[in-house]
Amino acid sequence: MQALLLNGSPRGAASNTLRLSRAFLQGTGWPFETFSLTENRIEPCRGCMACWRSGAPCTIADDFSAFVGQFRRADVLIASFPLYYFGLPAQLKALLDRTISLMEPYHGQTPEGGHCSFQTLRDPALRRKKLVVISSCGYTEAAPMYEALLAQLDRLCSGRNYTPLFFPQGELLPVEKLDGPRARRLQAFEAAGREYAETGTLSEQTLAGVQRPMVDPRVYEILARAQWRGGAERNKQP
Ligand SMILES: Cc1cc2nc3c(=O)[nH]c(=O)nc-3n(C[C@H](O)[C@H](O)[C@H](O)COP(=O)(O)O)c2cc1C
Repeated sequence: MQALLLNGSPRGAASNTLRLSRAFLQGTGWPFETFSLTENRIEPCRGCMACWRSGAPCTIADDFSAFVGQFRRADVLIASFPLYYFGLPAQLKALLDRTISLMEPYHGQTPEGGHCSFQTLRDPALRRKKLVVISSCGYTEAAPMYEALLAQLDRLCSGRNYTPLFFPQGELLPVEKLDGPRARRLQAFEAAGREYAETGTLSEQTLAGVQRPMVDPRVYEILARAQWRGGAERNKQP
């Protein structure tokens, strides 16, 4: 198996989420390539629909075709990104929008039961790719934060046929004092990668283990307040 690690964090190599994704990939033992949105130029879709009219690749001259080349070579896409306002960071949304050029044109068909994506990838080889979504957020619990994103992804993927791993309290990952808990959590992500490579899925128990908050919400509140105190003081109205 060959993986493509898509780093969608505007922080690039300093991304919290990237630490988790790297640990997961290490667990899989798979060779992988990386496509980082801070190192590549992806323009927003202009909505010209030339791709659907002509069937030709997107006409914008940037690094999108390089992404598609890497995606074609991979069996599994690991999408790694922070949660921004309950959804994707703008740079990653721009990349997602550009994939419209890889889709069959929409002809007005209606859903046949359950979840439905009105988009189908043109190339059957691309439809066989697997998707793992690894994301971190700043809130103290993952479940309430990711409802909207899960709903969007379910629509895009015509159901939950992808593997989501969501990590709350993301800003704790670089905190030096939390060396021990961080190392244990990275080990849990590595174990999850191993399980995924062996079974193609993750058990409820594994998911619960990687997604649970690293510290008690009350402790997190104290740490978060301390982290932003300087800024809050500076911003106080006279
Ligand atoms: C513009 C912006 C929007 C954010 N929106 C959310 C949000 O809706 N919910 C949340 O829990 N965290 C939110 N966060 C926090 C990030 O998701 C969190 O810090 C994450 O761990 C950063 O990951 P990264 O280092 O991989 O970029 C937001 C951060 C920024 C800068």
